[in-house]
Amino acid sequence: MAHAPRFLRVVAAKSRVRQVEFDGYGNFRQALAGLRLLLTCLALLFPCTSRLLAQTDLTGFWVLRIPNRGVTYFDLKQSGDLVTGKFVYGGAVQSLGGTFSAGKLRLEISRQRVYEGIVDGGKIAVTAPVKGVLERSAREAVYPPRLALPELQDVPDNGLARTPPMGWNSWNKFHEGIDDATVRATADAMVSSGMSKVGYRYIVVDEGWSSSRGADGKITSNDRFPDMKALVDYVHSKGLKFGIYSSPGPQSCGGYQGSYGHEEDDARTFASWGVDYLKYDWCTAAVVYQSTREESQAVSQKMGQALLDTGSPIVFSIHSMGEVWEWGTNAGANLWRTTNDIADTWQSIERIGFAQLNLAGYAKPGHWNDPDMLEIGNGGMNADEYRTHMSLWCLLAAPLMAGNDLRTMTEETKSILMNSEAIAIDQDRDVKTVRRVEREGRTEVWVRPLRDSQTARFGVEHSAAVGLFNRGDQAADVSVRWEDLQLGAVVGAKSLHARDLWKHEDAPVTADRYAATVPAHGVVLLKVSAVPTR
Ligand code: GLA
Repeated sequence: MAHAPRFLRVVAAKSRVRQVEFDGYGNFRQALAGLRLLLTCLALLFPCTSRLLAQTDLTGFWVLRIPNRGVTYFDLKQSGDLVTGKFVYGGAVQSLGGTFSAGKLRLEISRQRVYEGIVDGGKIAVTAPVKGVLERSAREAVYPPRLALPELQDVPDNGLARTPPMGWNSWNKFHEGIDDATVRATADAMVSSGMSKVGYRYIVVDEGWSSSRGADGKITSNDRFPDMKALVDYVHSKGLKFGIYSSPGPQSCGGYQGSYGHEEDDARTFASWGVDYLKYDWCTAAVVYQSTREESQAVSQKMGQALLDTGSPIVFSIHSMGEVWEWGTNAGANLWRTTNDIADTWQSIERIGFAQLNLAGYAKPGHWNDPDMLEIGNGGMNADEYRTHMSLWCLLAAPLMAGNDLRTMTEETKSILMNSEAIAIDQDRDVKTVRRVEREGRTEVWVRPLRDSQTARFGVEHSAAVGLFNRGDQAADVSVRWEDLQLGAVVGAKSLHARDLWKHEDAPVTADRYAATVPAHGVVLLKVSAVPTR
């Protein structure tokens, strides 16, 4: 006959935290019963002991607020000295596990993210990874009741962003460490560097500006942004436009105040500050709404309509759930994110940039695919890789939102961000769809037909932008046949003119194709035009 197990194994649910083994199942149970008896006697004899025991039950909802930073929630369940539960930060709800003994709490969310604290009365003094105080909170603060969403209906076009928006966004370089002075200096640099002359216009403050709400429901900025209206006025005084960031959830991804339940209030506040652009990031909407097409669209539509109702021209940039390119226009969005967050690495640029072709057809005046902001100049890639980044974004008609420190740009960074011949491809008003005409090994050739232009001298001019890409780790020969550009019937009766948009010089047009040796991770970007022979 099988014997009872020789040991008991306690595993913290869903956590990678610890396994506790006790030898001798029977001995352990006896010891536990004895301990319980002892604690009961102590509790009867000393009321203060029972209070102590009650105080140390950490089960419940806790909030960690750090001034001028985001808000983090902990949904804890304590059992003995084991603590399990959930960590709610931004849109992410993660399991946690840990221990609580001798007044010390240790909660592991991941190997890299471990919170430590000391229980002190009804609060927990957090000592790592940040310093702060965990206080009891209510379930509704962590998971607020779901508010009704509007019936789906089309938000009228706001008439903005007829070409892909161009500007700068604080996130990629500064993350939450952005402040008023840096934004002002960035606006100065956008003008003095010449960026504004080649089309960069929006200065967008991403995560990290908000604080909370006043009693009147009005969202407030934190100490790093003492006067938002004055900042917007300053940016406007430079001839530029101003953008801001929020979320349809109760908090933004970094735990700052979101617009949940205050969409109209916030739209009005932003308009009263003179805001020209809103980046609206799904984030904690995930703890309230379903990520279905219907709910994502209704959530975006609510803010899209609220912005329109202000009567102010505010570009609406969304990061939502699902196949947003299919309904972003209906929700009033001018641009929608098509990817997860970009990083300043070749792997990230390659993964994102070369995976956008099947969406290219969704881009049209006023409504753009957004493969995320630029990393050019942030230092993680070489110039060939940054030129590929810029060329891909231009061929895709993607928004060009610089994400670097504009105050300290090298000449090389400027030459990439301010290549006006490449920018002209991005901003081409006809937005004809880019296609891949060739793929061989790690090389590919993309072609985007451009707007036909009328010139008195040459008659109708047909042209196309061509990207010869080398994704490989060694230099490679890449070529394109003129025929594949589909300058069509005009070839033969007309002659071709080719220009290298990175070298800023004409490229030879001989034979039936153009061939170049392209460096590792590099690109040759051409504009080819068919003009009548005379
Ligand atoms: C998300 C977005 C980023 C940035 C951060 C801010 O991750 O995708 O672009 O806005 O939130 O927390």
